[in-house]
Amino acid sequence: MTDFQQIIISWYRENKRELPWRDTKNPYKIWLSEIILQQTRVIQGLAYYEKFIRHYPTIEALADASEQEVLTDWQGLGYYSRARNLHATAKQINSEYNAIFPSDYESILKLKGIGEYTAAAIASFAFDLPHAVVDGNVFRVLSRVYNIDIPIDSTEGKKYYSVLANDLLDRANPAIYNQAIMEFGAMQCIPGKPNCGICPLVEYCISFKEQNIMDRPIKKGKTKVRNRYFLYLIFWNSTAKTFFLRKRTEKDIWQELYEFPLIEFESDEATMIFLNSQSNYLEPVSAAQKHILSHQHIYSRFAFVTNADLLNEFEDLIELSFEELGSYPLPRLIDRFIENNYSLFNS
Ligand code: ADE
Repeated sequence: MTDFQQIIISWYRENKRELPWRDTKNPYKIWLSEIILQQTRVIQGLAYYEKFIRHYPTIEALADASEQEVLTDWQGLGYYSRARNLHATAKQINSEYNAIFPSDYESILKLKGIGEYTAAAIASFAFDLPHAVVDGNVFRVLSRVYNIDIPIDSTEGKKYYSVLANDLLDRANPAIYNQAIMEFGAMQCIPGKPNCGICPLVEYCISFKEQNIMDRPIKKGKTKVRNRYFLYLIFWNSTAKTFFLRKRTEKDIWQELYEFPLIEFESDEATMIFLNSQSNYLEPVSAAQKHILSHQHIYSRFAFVTNADLLNEFEDLIELSFEELGSYPLPRLIDRFIENNYSLFNS
């Protein structure tokens, strides 16, 4: 074993968090945890992991569920394509692989929604195959220990880090080594100001010596953020106590989720001009609310519709009561609006 492997693994044995997906070799559970954890913090992911294992204890159970059920259980986690791919892949494994998770790296990598990182995680954690994981934590640890100045979001960087990570991998213990280096990045070699005073790798760490810890890893450029301006129209039938939702079917954010009928504008000024021109038909609810997605900032406004003619423009509306809402997956933005403005519907 190299010093690096030995230090990382003994640090892990002493400092690791107890997490349910670490007590199993079941590839389904490991896969599920990795998909949940892709863009979600461990604390938040835990509850969803437990819920999914409860509702769908096996690949067959997940494959047999409807997409709407799966999306509803996913509600609040965001990045819903993860849930759609999870479900599609469960169906595929069920039919093509007899519900048995494929056990070689290449077949795992071919599955929908599984990239190189996730394939390496499943291959190593579940099947002890020697594939190094390279996630944000690993980028950070390696960039600091080896003082690497190649951007992690460049083609060259991805290749360089992947080769280095596989060179460093403990091929006799890939499962524990991979868990260990990720946990080390998550708990010790953290993005903010790490406590290098207690770091077991400090004497090996070139970036510490060069005093540029805070400048590692290097990233080329942030992706540009797109601003969008949404006006949601709420048609509340106070007699029937119902309202209308529409399913988002376009190739865009929130595909297959439900929202109030929406008009999108180029700017907040344009939204306001429209609202003012329709003041006989629309009653604005609130100031614009900002909702942040990874590559988009959504500025949303909500207005109650006082003249139903406005809704003629919309197709495929469904009429719902609050009791029925539970089985319709909603974007977080909509869910939060309803939660915070529940009283408006009862006055
Ligand atoms: N983040 C991604 N995968 C993880 C894992 N297996 N344990 C903890 N955090 C993670």
